[in-house]
Amino acid sequence: MDSPFAYIGGKSKLSNQIIERFPDHKSYIEVFGGALWVFFRKPVSKYEVVNDFDGELIAFYRVIQNHLEEFLKQFKFMLSSREFFNDWKDQLDTRGLTDIQKAARYYFCQRQCFGGRVRNRTFGVVPESLPRINLIRMEEELSEVHLRLSRVVIENLDYVDLINRYDKPDSLFFLDPPYYKAPTYKHNFHSLDDYEKINENLKNIKGKFLLSINDHEAIREIYKEFNIETLNLKYTVAKDNQKDVTELLISNFKIEKQQLELF
Ligand SMILES: C[S@@+](CC[C@H](N)C(=O)[O-])C[C@H]1O[C@@H](n2cnc3c(N)ncnc32)[C@H](O)[C@@H]1O
Repeated sequence: MDSPFAYIGGKSKLSNQIIERFPDHKSYIEVFGGALWVFFRKPVSKYEVVNDFDGELIAFYRVIQNHLEEFLKQFKFMLSSREFFNDWKDQLDTRGLTDIQKAARYYFCQRQCFGGRVRNRTFGVVPESLPRINLIRMEEELSEVHLRLSRVVIENLDYVDLINRYDKPDSLFFLDPPYYKAPTYKHNFHSLDDYEKINENLKNIKGKFLLSINDHEAIREIYKEFNIETLNLKYTVAKDNQKDVTELLISNFKIEKQQLELF
């Protein structure tokens, strides 16, 4: 299945290549969750944890996991009022909203924003009077997300705490941190020290990890003690804005593809 929204740095294109490299494991922990493209596309693991430090994003997943009906009602209400539609995009930071109201605005903006850039408020083409929201399709899509998340632990931790909490010999961590030199999120990585810190935190873990990051000489240098594989892909934000990039897959295990039957 697909993630419910596009996300800057989301792994929709790379997900299959990442998943086919996953080794056998019992617990799957997605450390830098974002739109969870890899989580939604992979086969179900015995235990699963998804995480992101962005509280707004995690509140959305928790609402879908626990209050889907109430969440959907927000949209029925919105569709009957044009004022609501026009206001929602400005209300992301409004105080006094319930978690369900906030989650609805977050989802709405994430779906409407150009390339999923909620924080930049760069809105895509929106019809004059009504939003591009199809309630029936939304209910179907989000019901699938709700079911997929039903047995999943959803965390809102800094990655260091998350790794400490869930590290076991049969754990598999998938890490997709913010790209080096590409600050786009509420929580960003600002210098090479941040990537050094991830390296320090991964050096002595008991479990396995697969980390995906943009290709850069300095990044290769930091992770040189691990296995590093290079993948080529085309990266698109808009139709006419496509470029070739290389991505690194870094791991503490020998990668063998097509291990899916091991799950
Ligand atoms: C490249 S995106 C992940 C994209 C995701 N793999 C997908 O398919 O959509 C990186 C994510 O890391 C999160 N993040 C940034 N700093 C973090 C931290 N210290 N701990 C946990 N998550 C963090 C950001 O909020 C962002 O959602």
